[in-house]
Amino acid sequence: MRRVFFLAFVVVALSGCNGPTAPAAVVAPAAPVPSAPAPAADDGEAAKVFEQRIAPIFKSPDPSSCARCHLATVDIKQYILPSAKDTFLALRDQGLIDLNKPEDSKILALINRGADDPKAAGLISAKRQKAEHEAFAAWIKACAADPAIKNAPKPEKAPALSTMPVEVVRHARKDRMLESFETNVWSMRFRCMNCHTEGTPQSAKLVKEHGERVAWFKKGGAEATMDYLIASKLIDLDKPEKSLLLTKPLNEMKHGGGVKIVVGDQGYKALRAWIEDVAAIKKEKYTKSTDLPPTETGPKRFGTEAWLKLEKTPDAWGDKLLQADVYAWDATVSAWERDPIATSDRVVFGKGKLWQHTVTLLAVPGSDRAKAWAKAKPALPAGKYLVKVYIDSADKAKKDWKAPLGADEYVGQVEFQGRWAEGYSAMTTVDASKVKK
Ligand code: HEC
Ligand code: HEC
Repeated sequence: MRRVFFLAFVVVALSGCNGPTAPAAVVAPAAPVPSAPAPAADDGEAAKVFEQRIAPIFKSPDPSSCARCHLATVDIKQYILPSAKDTFLALRDQGLIDLNKPEDSKILALINRGADDPKAAGLISAKRQKAEHEAFAAWIKACAADPAIKNAPKPEKAPALSTMPVEVVRHARKDRMLESFETNVWSMRFRCMNCHTEGTPQSAKLVKEHGERVAWFKKGGAEATMDYLIASKLIDLDKPEKSLLLTKPLNEMKHGGGVKIVVGDQGYKALRAWIEDVAAIKKEKYTKSTDLPPTETGPKRFGTEAWLKLEKTPDAWGDKLLQADVYAWDATVSAWERDPIATSDRVVFGKGKLWQHTVTLLAVPGSDRAKAWAKAKPALPAGKYLVKVYIDSADKAKKDWKAPLGADEYVGQVEFQGRWAEGYSAMTTVDASKVKK
């Protein structure tokens, strides 16, 4: 409906407010020049040019070029109203068009952002962007050249655009989403033990058996993986908790890798929060700033292939979710650091009296540590560490996936020497029978 309206509006707009200069910008070179250019002929010509150059862009069912950087919530169509006049009045009221210098109009800057980025070269969206820019530029220029439109009186109430509040627009920007993806999903990839990491021997073997779909942690890194997942069927936008990205590792849907997470553990929490956010953005559930999830204030997380093992676990811990928070020794003040430097959680293997998992490193966003780990491979130095252990005896996390483990679950701590070598066969081992309150 909206596009049909829009077509009508551009035809009217181009024919209605074309000044003498406007057609030059849009007429195809081969168009025959009318012998006596009466206004009616101009109208016909403009309509024709629109049909040929602008209509196809707006008839396209594809999202606008904005989608390259904004996950949703922003589309060029939101800046358009059914009538040309309303669109003009709304854009003018919002200060998005500059009638004295049409080429400086803010709407053109919004459309053109990133157009000269070399990364855009060859993208379909870059072509679309150019077409959108040219169409709007021509229209604004034509409006500015028509005194009747240019000087249209300000109505009592300017028509409203269907744009979203800036907070919502900011939240759904791809660069912001990527930050949250890195800390929530990308950092968890070693929990999936390279089975899904493109280019590793483990995944190469599984790809042979199950096809390319298995290698969804992309070689290209966090951004390539995010783009792949968002477009894949692994996320269920209608029922986020039923996404294969959760139901497979839960083994709720039969999973080639077996049970790899449980409801409420760190992996589940991180994956679920990210999926819920993507679904809410895509389904346009956020319409005002108070709808947005709270800003992430926690540490930035970095995945590693260093394993921590607790052996001789007490019987009471058997088959319960165990969280291990690791603290580094700060020699400058001769004390343990205030915040954990690493963490992990998983269900204890009761029969084997054993708990082991890869650790996730934690750093305050923007800190030297976070910067170092973002630049080079994140790793812990060998040395003296403390582990604090939490046991979810009451299955709190299973009942409420968002519930954090804390003082109620604390069962004690113990100091140990961490070597933090990488790999399954080089675990840092701690005697759990020494864990004391
Ligand atoms: C190449 C990436 C890119 C493209 C393409 C892009 N944007 Fe943006 N957009 C951004 C970035 C980055 C910001 C934040 C800029 C800043 O804070 O200075 C932004 C900010 C905005 C804002 C302002 C919100 C705020 O933070 O105040 C609006 C509105 C907006 N874009 C609309 C659009 C529309 C409409 C399109 C398509 C016609 C579009 N953008 C295309 C990257 C892009
Ligand atoms: C030991 C290897 C292994 C581990 C570890 C593993 N998986 Fe898998 N996973 C598989 C295999 C094999 C398949 C293909 C067969 C199937 O669909 O179950 C698969 C399939 C999947 C699929 C479906 C992919 C698709 O496109 O159909 C998802 C999603 C998934 N796993 C998520 C995870 C997550 C998340 C983790 C880590 C928390 C994980 N897996 C850990 C072996 C593993």
